[in-house]
Formats: sequence, structure tokens, C-alpha cells
Amino acid sequence: MNIENATVLVTGANRGLGLAFTRELLARGARKVYAGARDPASITQPGVVPLRLDVTNPDDVAAAAKLASDVTLVINNAGIAQAGGFLAPDSEDVTRRIFETNFFAMLRMSKAFAPILKSNGGGALLNVLSVVSWVSGAMAAYSASKSAAWSLTNALRLELAAQKTQVLALHMGFVDTDLARGFDAPKSSAEEIVRRALDGLESGQDEVLADERTLQVKQGLTAARPVYLPQIS
Ligand SMILES: NC(=O)c1ccc[n+]([C@@H]2O[C@H](COP(=O)([O-])OP(=O)(O)OC[C@H]3O[C@@H](n4cnc5c(N)ncnc54)[C@H](OP(=O)(O)O)[C@@H]3O)[C@@H](O)[C@H]2O)c1
Repeated sequence: MNIENATVLVTGANRGLGLAFTRELLARGARKVYAGARDPASITQPGVVPLRLDVTNPDDVAAAAKLASDVTLVINNAGIAQAGGFLAPDSEDVTRRIFETNFFAMLRMSKAFAPILKSNGGGALLNVLSVVSWVSGAMAAYSASKSAAWSLTNALRLELAAQKTQVLALHMGFVDTDLARGFDAPKSSAEEIVRRALDGLESGQDEVLADERTLQVKQGLTAARPVYLPQIS
């Protein structure tokens, strides 16, 4: 889809990748950008329409769908992460909390906006996932939520094909935002990831692997010893 003249809603648009999305969308000539945030006062980017949108709150999602009925592109970007393994004492609570934002809210938003995208000609859905959709690590529940969100994205692509909605999955490793602050590892800039995501969207892609590590991991899924199996000597 073309960004120029698109009407876009970005969730978690007050900082990090969400803020970078709003800036790049405006630079590419989007007609209108709704910037969703739990606290609309935290939206500082000029030129956007701030929208109160806690994606875990069904009332907020319903109100956003009513107000932003002209949307042609939804970017499900809001997400949370927490380090820790599944054997930690609090892992069930942590997993539920992370799934509420990273999986169920993506499902709720997609259901709320699917009819809107249809009535506006099809449009597109861009779901922000991660390389950890395919490999687990220091953030077990977060990885599981992204695997589930990847499956959700694949299912939505099938279900939305009839109404000609493009569904793009964005996968990447570390990005230099608050979410990855505690990790001492190479990081992409949010601006670079967003440019690649929107280039992919505009060229009709279903999937964008936005950095070298993600390309390597994806290739490693079909290796004799797949990348998600640990090397135990
Ligand atoms: N950074 C990375 O290394 C990395 C790598 C791969 C994928 N990702 C994914 O990229 C997306 C954006 O993350 P980021 O790196 O930009 O992280 P970030 O800087 O921590 O920003 C997260 C954003 O999500 C919002 N958010 C969290 N819970 C929300 C809720 N219930 N309702 C609405 N907004 C909510 C936050 O709003 P508040 O300001 O209100 O908290 C914030 O705007 C996430 O889906 C993340 O999983 C990030």
C-alpha cells in the first residue's frame, strides 16, 4: 500500500518505535496519523492526532474504532517485555500480563479495525513482532507472546485476504529503545527499522526481516540443527 495519503493509527506512539513510525509516516506524506497512547499528553510529535488508547482496555479500543473510522493502515506496535524464565516463581502472572498486551490486545485491535479497513478499501495491518518469535532467550514469556502474535498475524492474513487487507509481520532483533535498555548488545536504530518496515509495506511485502540477525535466525530454522535448539556439548 502507499503511505502517501494513507490514514494511519499507531499504537504506543508516544516513544520508541511508535514515535519513529509517526515521524516517518508524516515524512512519507500520510494524510492523517492517529497517535495512540495510554496517556495522550505524552504525545509530543507535532502534526499527529493524539488518541487515548490503552490497548488492554476494551472500552478504549472500541472508542478508538468509533473515532478513527477513516483509518486505512493500523500499526500494532504497543508492547511490553520483562526478563525472566518460565521456572521463575511469578512466571504465570508475568506471562498473563505480557500476553494481555502483546497478544490479546493485538487480537482485539485487529478485530475492531478489520471492518473499518474493509469499508475503506482493504488497507493494511502492520504487526510489530520480533526475532524472538522463533528463538527463546532471556525473556521467555515475551518470546512466547511474540510466537503467538506471529501465529495470530499469519491467521489474520488468511482471514483478511478476501477483503484485500495486506498483513505485514515485522521481525527484528534489538532496537535502541527503552525496551532494550538493559541489554548490552548491538542494536538497530528505531528510524532504520521503521524505514525498512514501511519500504516493505509500500512494496507489497507480507514479512519484513529488518536486520541481519533476524535474517540469519530465519535461515537457521531449516538448518540440520535448527537455531532454536541449544548447542549442548
Ligand atoms: N526494542 C527492541 O529491542 C524490540 C525488538 C523487537 C521488537 N520490539 C517490539 O517493538 C514494539 C515497540 O517497542 P519499543 O522498543 O518501542 O519499546 P518502548 O520504547 O518500551 O515503547 C513501548 C510502547 O508501547 C506502549 N505500551 C505499552 N503497553 C501499552 C498499552 N497497554 N497500551 C498502549 N500502549 C502501550 C508504551 O506506552 P507507555 O509510554 O504508556 O508505557 C510505549 O509507547 C513492541 O511491540 C516490542 O515488543 C522491540
